Amino acid sequence: MNAAIRAVVRAAIGRGVEVVGFNHGYQGIIDNESRILESYMVGGIIDRGGTILRTARSKEFMTFDGRKKAIESLAVNECEGLVVIGGDGSLTGALKLHEEFEFAVMGVPGSIDNDISGTDFSIGFDTAVNTAIQAIDRVRDTAYSHERVFVIEVMGRHNGFIALEAGLAGGAEAVLLPEVPYSLLEISNGLRMAAEKGKRSSIIVVAEGAARAGDIKDFIHKNTGFEARAVVLGHMQRGGSPTAFDRVLALRLGALAANRIISGYRGEMVGVDGNKLVSHPLSYVLSAERNIDPDRMILAEVMAQ
Ligand code: F6P
Repeated sequence: MNAAIRAVVRAAIGRGVEVVGFNHGYQGIIDNESRILESYMVGGIIDRGGTILRTARSKEFMTFDGRKKAIESLAVNECEGLVVIGGDGSLTGALKLHEEFEFAVMGVPGSIDNDISGTDFSIGFDTAVNTAIQAIDRVRDTAYSHERVFVIEVMGRHNGFIALEAGLAGGAEAVLLPEVPYSLLEISNGLRMAAEKGKRSSIIVVAEGAARAGDIKDFIHKNTGFEARAVVLGHMQRGGSPTAFDRVLALRLGALAANRIISGYRGEMVGVDGNKLVSHPLSYVLSAERNIDPDRMILAEVMAQ
């Protein structure tokens, strides 16, 4: 998100527009935690994960009165538009400001889950996947040497985009996603058959929304007798220095968001389609569901044979 903030600030300043940054997301707007963001203030942050503006969940913003307070605070700060970087919840908030108060908003997709429609990639996904495969590669060394089954749990409460990508890139023997039904009995049988052919170690990647790694590990151990371990990657996937892909994505999307809102476009979210920059109405983005690519799922199964 820092790379996106840097891009918004510098693209806007390049067009002669002043940028105000609010700390702590919508709650910070309500509480007027604002400061002018000069170009130098966003220097040296492109390689830092997270956000220099901090973030927060705001219950108050979920109420109409809270949103009215936010609009008043934006007016006090002479803000004519708002760029919101975030996932589903943040973008829904932006749409509400647009619909209820006709405020000029522009969304930038930021979510490691990559579950936002209207863009092929959300900021943070590539970094999270790369962190996950680094962990999988390291765990595989023990899996191989000690001839064990490892169940690695990655983030994704409602979807399996990280799990599928990390499973493919990490060469997992099975990938479990909340969107796709699976049978632990079949997986256990598969592991047993693979062992009979000489495969003595396996990696199973599971999205947290599909099951807990510990439960799967217990089931597999009970059904196969194989030694098994569970690893939960958790929040380490949400931090760390962003990949080059994520940095450039954030720069392109942040600059596009600033340029479009300055040019008079409103109520949209910027994104990428292939290598092309696009922008769609927030109302469309938030009503369309982003689905797992079935070809990738088939590929994961074929590769696991
Ligand atoms: O929405 C992104 C996400 O990383 C999910 O994949 C994960 O379940 C959740 O956030 C974790 O949220 P929290 O940090 O509030 O526990």
